[in-house]
Amino acid sequence: MSSESFQDFIGQPKSREGVEFRMVSAHGRQMERMLGLGVGPLAAGTVGLLILLKVIQRLRHKQNLQDKVVVITGASSGLGKECARVFHAAGARLILCGRDQKRLQEVVEELRNKTYGKIQTYSPCTVTFDLSNTSRVSSAAEEILKCHGHVDVLINNAGISYRGNILDTHVSVQRDVMETNYFGPVALTQAILPSMVDRRSGHIVVISSVQGKISIPYRSAYSASKHATQAYFDCLRAEVDRFGLQVSVISPGYIRTNLSINAVTGDGSKYGVMDKTTAKGRDPEDVARAVLKAVCHKQKDVVLAGLLPTAAVYLRTLWPALYFRLMASRVTKEQRLKEE
Ligand SMILES: NC(=O)c1ccc[n+]([C@@H]2O[C@H](COP(=O)([O-])OP(=O)(O)OC[C@H]3O[C@@H](n4cnc5c(N)ncnc54)[C@H](OP(=O)(O)O)[C@@H]3O)[C@@H](O)[C@H]2O)c1
Repeated sequence: MSSESFQDFIGQPKSREGVEFRMVSAHGRQMERMLGLGVGPLAAGTVGLLILLKVIQRLRHKQNLQDKVVVITGASSGLGKECARVFHAAGARLILCGRDQKRLQEVVEELRNKTYGKIQTYSPCTVTFDLSNTSRVSSAAEEILKCHGHVDVLINNAGISYRGNILDTHVSVQRDVMETNYFGPVALTQAILPSMVDRRSGHIVVISSVQGKISIPYRSAYSASKHATQAYFDCLRAEVDRFGLQVSVISPGYIRTNLSINAVTGDGSKYGVMDKTTAKGRDPEDVARAVLKAVCHKQKDVVLAGLLPTAAVYLRTLWPALYFRLMASRVTKEQRLKEE
């Protein structure tokens, strides 16, 4: 067929550009018809497939805690005690840590005879030490490793809070909070880490705080210690990934525990007050379940906070000037309330 008769056959104008254009649009119409018939089911099928893949991936990577050796610091109260209950119910072999042997023993007594259907449970061991005494931490780590020969999951939960004005706070208080909340967990982690690297297996969890992502006034020592915690464990995660180790940083908002009562003030004395925000905080059992989920699903960074604190985390990054203004006006408001 000559080029002229071909043009006649398809009824296109004779200009070269015109032919190309109309041929493309004819092809386009055909495509449109095909897509018009199939785009809905195709999109639904793709989304369904992606969800299925995600579920399979989660199930494949899910860690079973039956018989796993789990160390929990600060297990004598609050979130640590709830973590002990939740991980015990999952069949873990617990090593509970804290400064007060009597209170740790009470947790052991509570859990000792509890059964949960077919789940095999174990009576927990205890190791007593003060995290702020870094020289004691390495011998405590040896005791921990002797209990079952290894550690599968280390939950760095113990911590103290602080309430105070920077102007009235001794540097020694800033340092003490840092010792308990930062250097203690760092020393314990580094003492346990080589055995995890040798086994090419292990999961390190740290309970940080939303205040590890944003700072609020009158919490300098606490917030600084939690920011340092976030930074250290983010580095650790990257460095131990090649050994197959997991690191999870959990950042909760307020939890209903004695944290504010046990907080220290600028002169090092106990604050001793249950703050309204803490009293209205999350149920520690819910937070403990979220910690369990983070371990089972190997979640790397979990923020457990309401809409406002979560928005504040984004605001601090995306519009810092506004965040700083809001925090400064918060101080002005609190000062005015104090003076009234
Ligand atoms: N409650 C909240 O609103 C909130 C919010 C975000 C994050 N967090 C974090 O959650 C974690 C648990 O706190 P919590 O709310 O459960 O408070 P908590 O009830 O006061 O418990 C703190 C635990 O840490 C232990 N601890 C404190 N200082 C220690 C030290 N020097 N050496 C060893 N253990 C020490 C305490 O044990 P002993 O006194 O028996 O030694 C206690 O078991 C902390 O890391 C905290 O920062 C809490």
